[in-house]
Amino acid sequence: MAKGKHSAYVCDSCGHDEPKWLGRCPSCGEWNSFKEVRLGGKSTNTSGSRRPVPKLLADIDPTPPEQHPTGNGELDRVLGGGLSPGTAVLLGGEPGIGKSTLMLQVAATLPGRGLYVSGEESPGQIKNRADRLNLSQESLEILCETELEVLIDILAERKPAYVVVDSIQTLISGEAGAIPGTSNQLKIAGHCLTTWAKAAGIPIFLIAHVTKEGTIAGPKVIEHLVDTVLYFDHSSSDLRILRASKNRMGSVDEVGLFRMGAQGLTPIANPAGLFLEHRKGGPPVGSAVAAVYEGSRILLVEIQALTVPSKGGMGRVYSDRIDNARVSRIAAVLERHAGLRLSDQDIYVNVAGGLRIGETGAELALALALFSARSEKALPADMVAVGELSLAGEVRPVPHLRRRIKTASDTGLSRWVSAAAGDEAGAFPGSGNEIHHIRDALAAALSS
Ligand code: TYD
Ligand code: MG
Repeated sequence: MAKGKHSAYVCDSCGHDEPKWLGRCPSCGEWNSFKEVRLGGKSTNTSGSRRPVPKLLADIDPTPPEQHPTGNGELDRVLGGGLSPGTAVLLGGEPGIGKSTLMLQVAATLPGRGLYVSGEESPGQIKNRADRLNLSQESLEILCETELEVLIDILAERKPAYVVVDSIQTLISGEAGAIPGTSNQLKIAGHCLTTWAKAAGIPIFLIAHVTKEGTIAGPKVIEHLVDTVLYFDHSSSDLRILRASKNRMGSVDEVGLFRMGAQGLTPIANPAGLFLEHRKGGPPVGSAVAAVYEGSRILLVEIQALTVPSKGGMGRVYSDRIDNARVSRIAAVLERHAGLRLSDQDIYVNVAGGLRIGETGAELALALALFSARSEKALPADMVAVGELSLAGEVRPVPHLRRRIKTASDTGLSRWVSAAAGDEAGAFPGSGNEIHHIRDALAAALSS
């Protein structure tokens, strides 16, 4: 903010400030949105009794970790065990993905008297949903309110055991203009609610829509204010994936898996074979199974590849579930070290079930899928491939190799192709080919 001046002009819509009034905000493009804000003089609190004193780190008493499970196994897995007092959790996702459903299900089972604040649905609509989902209704209060200052007063008065705000984009603060959903509104609501939650020691869930067209501000602008940021995403039509992108209470590696059905969101506790396509007969040309490590679980996924001669002679990669650069690299390794010409091909890669794969352990399966697509030879139906590929064409072992192969074997994939397992070597289940180079992997896949 401008230094040495007594006032500044702040955009009502995005919070951008300027030393002089402007007709149009250079940051968000909004017209007539600048309001004058008086800047305070010198801090009046410099000699007051509330001035905090820094403490030596060694003299500070540690806060004992305290986490209470929510009772929803998949949510607890992603939260890192459960909720701590005063924790603020942001739950983002596209409209219609199931945020309100998940939060109502969770709120109805949390211990103590909770408060579900909705600015989107009427109490009657929420009641209908709770009835349809057969939820317990004895300990959850519903409040339909969109004024932030009124909500804060009610929270202070009623002191609920936990709070859900659905959605934070519907809240309006008198201090941030008249339009709900602007980034300034979101920042003020986020700040006030998380500060209140911390001071009161009460966990709060803030639901936020992620929208593509950007007419309302997205949850990104308040991610820094909360302890945990969760995103709800869908895979196939009824499968929902919950991921943490920030977590002060645990890791961000775990994913929660749910199925959306007539009974709302049902946690999927044992998803190993969930992403496998079940077909009569063998797999089609261009498909290979990888065993990927997601959080602390192994998931078996089918990677599908298609190669077609490129029209311009220069091949392109079209892949949205595995990074394009990774696909290009694996294609280059196959061309250079296994003599498989791919540079004149357009390459399409997909992951059945829609899971995004960022893990190196799937590289060998990706290479085999590309090889199968280009050579038009199908791979054995019961084969899983696990390993990372180096630029020299070596196949490298990846962590948890034994568990991956065991999970595949339990799911009916009894044949494996993988790198030398090092410390993990030993009695792997099923029949396997321990290989060191991509050429050996291709030969093993074909001779099976
Ligand atoms: P909702 O929780 O309202 O989504 P969000 O709050 O993220 O906008 O869920 C809306 C969708 O979920 C809607 O298309 C209907 C579907 N749904 C079910 O399939 N089964 C159910 O039991 C419920 C409650 C919703
Ligand atoms: Mg909703």
